Amino acid sequence: MGELAIIPDGAMLTRGDKIEWVGTRSEIEARLTKDTRVIDAGGRVVAPGFVDAHTHLVFAGNRADEYEMRCSGITYQEIAKQGGGIRSTVRRTRAATESDLLAVAQKHASWFLRGGTTTIEAKSGYGLSVEAEMKILRVVRQTSKTTPLRCVPTLLGAHEVPDEFVGRTPAYVDLVVEEMLPMVVLEKLASFCDVFCEPHIFDEASAARILEAARRLELGVRIHADQFSCSGGARLAAALGAATADHLEHTDAVSIAALAAAGVQPVLLPGSVYSIGSKHYPSARAMIDAGLAVVLATDFNPGSSPIASMPVVLSLACTQMKMTPAETMTAATMNAACSLNLGGAVGSLEPGKSADFVVHEANDYREIPYFLGTQRPAMVFAQGERVA
Ligand code: NIG
Ligand code: FE
Repeated sequence: MGELAIIPDGAMLTRGDKIEWVGTRSEIEARLTKDTRVIDAGGRVVAPGFVDAHTHLVFAGNRADEYEMRCSGITYQEIAKQGGGIRSTVRRTRAATESDLLAVAQKHASWFLRGGTTTIEAKSGYGLSVEAEMKILRVVRQTSKTTPLRCVPTLLGAHEVPDEFVGRTPAYVDLVVEEMLPMVVLEKLASFCDVFCEPHIFDEASAARILEAARRLELGVRIHADQFSCSGGARLAAALGAATADHLEHTDAVSIAALAAAGVQPVLLPGSVYSIGSKHYPSARAMIDAGLAVVLATDFNPGSSPIASMPVVLSLACTQMKMTPAETMTAATMNAACSLNLGGAVGSLEPGKSADFVVHEANDYREIPYFLGTQRPAMVFAQGERVA
């Protein structure tokens, strides 16, 4: 992860939506024809578009009110216990029409692109009924079709227990397994299934029931694991051979070893640790030392992480989790692409891959995390077209 394949004085030739050749400037110049359009990056860093492998793209309204409450000392979990948190966004998202939600998702897509992100994973999870979850996943599909942002859809029907099922979690798990999952698969609306695994939300046994059903329907598996307690989420990810285990703020050494043995990729979300005002960052160094292909993502959502910027996440990973700038670049591009089964298509600048790349306002990649919150990419390209 710490070794980047940097080409000093490099250049790249693209054709249509694909990369055709990558090399030194003199190698590429020899391949120019008179109708090649030349874009001078001016000695700046050209890097793969970021791949953000954990986002909650589609939601109505925002929770700036809860942000203010947290600033005065009430915790994220206390707000959730009082019926706020995820449930308050669910009420608003259920009430929104599909076209309202598409407009919001397209706005969010422009935020991702502006920050140099060209591919995201997008979870549902603010509908919590069969119809509302499908509405959100249709919005994800439409966002991918109508904007330059590539979106990989994940069903997160088990994100929280909805108001009408409070006290009846097993009945809600039945609904997810027996109705929601089959309908979503029938309509081909998701590539992955995710569960918020936490003792007071969906415990290890409930999460296992849902994710085993998802696997039988040939969906990939991701898990919100060990965010607030070491409660079996990572262990379950290993047992199921999940693609990813996400969060992992409280994962212990035994579970890290299990993830390594099972080849599960950790998706670390320092933006949500920062935004909820916690200091408990996941043990990135132990995971990298265990040989895990660590991924970094924003967790963009209206509650725990109102952050759509990968450079901000890279910066937090460097200063708070002691990852090197090079490791953060790998985690946010190639490793992230592999976690979405897109390792052959995006995540690096190689011939045959999608021409998704960023001209950073930097002469050295280390400046990307270093100048926190100051620079925006100079240019962003997705599938060969300039998009920001
Ligand atoms: O990944 N932990 C659960 N889900 C989200 C938060 C969603 C919200 O607060 O609306 C997360 O942090
Ligand atoms: Fe999340």
